[in-house]
Amino acid sequence: MPSPNLTTFRAQFPALANKTYFNYGGQGPLSDRAFEAIVSTERHIQIDGPFNGKINAALSATCNTTRSAIADLLGVPDTTISLTEDVTVGCNIALWGLAWQAGDQIVMTDCEHPGVIAAVAEIARRFDLTVTIAPILDILNDGDPVAAIVDRLTSRTRLVIVSHLLWNTGYVLPLDEINRACHRFPTETGQTIRVLVDAAQSVGTLPLDLDAIEVDFYAFTGHKWLCGAAGVGGLYVSEAARAHLAPTFIGWRSIKMDALGNPTDWQPNGQRYEVATSAYPLYAGLREAIAVHDEWGTASERYAAICDRALRLWSGLQDLDGVECWSISPPRSGLVSFTHISGQHQTLVSHLETQGFMLRTILDPDCIRACVHYFTTDEEIDRLLTAIANFS
Ligand SMILES: Cc1ncc(COP(=O)(O)O)c(C=O)c1O
Repeated sequence: MPSPNLTTFRAQFPALANKTYFNYGGQGPLSDRAFEAIVSTERHIQIDGPFNGKINAALSATCNTTRSAIADLLGVPDTTISLTEDVTVGCNIALWGLAWQAGDQIVMTDCEHPGVIAAVAEIARRFDLTVTIAPILDILNDGDPVAAIVDRLTSRTRLVIVSHLLWNTGYVLPLDEINRACHRFPTETGQTIRVLVDAAQSVGTLPLDLDAIEVDFYAFTGHKWLCGAAGVGGLYVSEAARAHLAPTFIGWRSIKMDALGNPTDWQPNGQRYEVATSAYPLYAGLREAIAVHDEWGTASERYAAICDRALRLWSGLQDLDGVECWSISPPRSGLVSFTHISGQHQTLVSHLETQGFMLRTILDPDCIRACVHYFTTDEEIDRLLTAIANFS
């Protein structure tokens, strides 16, 4: 049985009341407090504004405090954070802003998200780049993903693209080793190989200290594991990498202006990658969502609880006839992927959905993904296991 505290904690999330939720990697539920922060910020804008000096100053302060809350979470200075809309926008900022030369190479794993793959294909077409895929999916259980990436670097490699936590199988890649190997690899021009990290599944899951592991670009969102509203994400760009990343989408938030409003320079910090008017109340919602998590426990405590929940699910799945987990070792994240002997994964997911269980299929590898958060209960996991066992 969940502890009374857990029950009270979960009661803050209306979405959890009427279903059994295992789709945190798709979107996290919004707490009442985050929702109220959004509504009260919009009300404030309407009552005091919507557009005047006072409210504009308040919204600028909201941007600052939101960047700051995110920076704390990632272990980096506020000045390195850009507020975006989602993961994919952050990846696009990094991808389009490098000074590509024909013949440059991008190395990316075979576990990246379709939106990022599509952006890379278009950049390669426009700038005449080569794209090399590092196949890691099939060696995750017994191979060395770092070697699979490093073995494909050449003197023309400019960028490596990896996910910190793989969305399809839940594996955590050793990002520190990947960053260090790329940064020390000798290139033709002497330029450092930069690493773009898709952090869709890692922010809100892993305790993070990006400065300590030499991250260049880290693109994330607030609407998945952080349980903020859809529409606010962020991008971390290290100070060293910023010097080589030009803004691509440009607006009044990107620039400094003189007394006549003429653009004079980029903002000296991550704001140069921000553009213009945004849905500011959602920023307040994300801040509140982060505060709700922090009240439950530290990032390390939450991560330990996520792994504990995932272990219960993974172990239970291993015990079911006809079910195989993708990972042969205990999970190190909240994403647990598995196959069913029927091969009817979409049918099983749809069947579970009729019973109130929310999961999703993954196309490659062909499997089902169940996500647990730190506040997933034993009872939810056990009921899911029973429902899967009863599927025929
Ligand atoms: C690894 C990964 N990258 C990118 C995305 C796209 O995220 P967004 O819609 O925030 O851009 C997702 C969403 O599921 C994801 O799992």
